[in-house]
Amino acid sequence: MKLRFALAAVGLALLFASWKISPPVGAKSARNDQPAPYPDRVILTWAGDPAHSAAVTWRTDTSVTKAKAQIAVADDGPAFAKRAVDVAAVSAPFRSNAGEAINHSVRFTDLKPATLYAYRVGDGANWTEWHQFRTASDKPEPLTFLYVGDAQNDILSLWSRVVRMSYAKAPEAHFFIHAGDLVNRGSNDEEWGDWFRAGGWIHATIPSFPVAGNHEYDRRDGNRRLLTDHWRAQFTLPENGVPGLEESNYYVDVQGVRVVGLNANERQQEQAAWLDEVLSRNPQRWTVLTFHQPIYSSARSRDNKELRETWQPVFDKHAVDLVLQGHDHTYARSNLLTGVNTRGGRAGTVYVVSVSGPKMYENQRLPWMTRKAEDTQLFQVIRIEGESLRYESRTARGILYDAFELRKRKKGPNQLVNLIPDTPERLRGAMPDSGAE
Ligand SMILES: [Fe+2]
Repeated sequence: MKLRFALAAVGLALLFASWKISPPVGAKSARNDQPAPYPDRVILTWAGDPAHSAAVTWRTDTSVTKAKAQIAVADDGPAFAKRAVDVAAVSAPFRSNAGEAINHSVRFTDLKPATLYAYRVGDGANWTEWHQFRTASDKPEPLTFLYVGDAQNDILSLWSRVVRMSYAKAPEAHFFIHAGDLVNRGSNDEEWGDWFRAGGWIHATIPSFPVAGNHEYDRRDGNRRLLTDHWRAQFTLPENGVPGLEESNYYVDVQGVRVVGLNANERQQEQAAWLDEVLSRNPQRWTVLTFHQPIYSSARSRDNKELRETWQPVFDKHAVDLVLQGHDHTYARSNLLTGVNTRGGRAGTVYVVSVSGPKMYENQRLPWMTRKAEDTQLFQVIRIEGESLRYESRTARGILYDAFELRKRKKGPNQLVNLIPDTPERLRGAMPDSGAE
């Protein structure tokens, strides 16, 4: 008996010791994430022309059957609220591993361009605060947007600081690209709860432009890999892509830029033909693409040859300016690249792989990488003005890590000017001292 007691004591001591040595970084806090009559998971998106429309989606419990939004042009005084108009929501029950909820969405239409609006969502009794957002201009104007790679793991614990720092550095951003793997298990409701909580009211303020990663897919319906039902239930996005890929393959024109989201997980051939068509009738000066799995892999032992061979000829043909990707949990940014068989002088695309969450892989350190990193959480700020695109990649602390400028030329490919800060690359085995800012 005595021996058993002693063994138990030793076991307990070991348990405490191991806890001290390596506390679980992503320890879940005990919190209530169940839906309630009060709205949560409020997210602003574009479902149409960003100069004249916006969309908002949110969640409640099943008691809220008549949901709505109110919207007014914002003013310095509070009287704007009296001028707000009601817009009825489209509501649909949603069942997840966490139970029953209702998702509501509203499309605001007939908005004035370049105008600050205030909106709130609720049911007449339970209202959110008034969130403010600015509609896009209906012509080419200076544009700022944010882009992050995979959030995916320990989202509330460790991704929150990146999304919040990105807002602190570029609060004027017109939209926010999430390049796939927003969560680790696409149909796990708690992980989405973490993603929404990490971004908080930033999600309700800056329109999100999300594309789906492989982790937004899971096996259902006879072991088929399908996009999680969470995706369409909680994001109200354009439905102008390949039929069957509504809201995961789409494009938006905003202030002189065509921004295209592709779904690299499926139907790549169909999207190549669709993209060729969409870019053949593209009146915008700039073209930015985003999707999850990269054309040029940055993580060791990875290469998406089929994707590259299917899509890159279309990118080259239409001289796509910038491609923003995720999936490889490292950072890598190219110079102007084309596929090997490209003809004509216009082509030359900058490819980026980035990561914002804490999961980190080894970089394969290839010559095409003009700037690269490992073990670094990053966000990107991109500013387009006239003939110039300025790109910045910043660390979770907000420190500039990579930068370049693209300049349009009358003839020939873009001019690329590297503006890389004079700091060492963050690579395993040669990590610079932290602390310097
Ligand atoms: Fe991925």
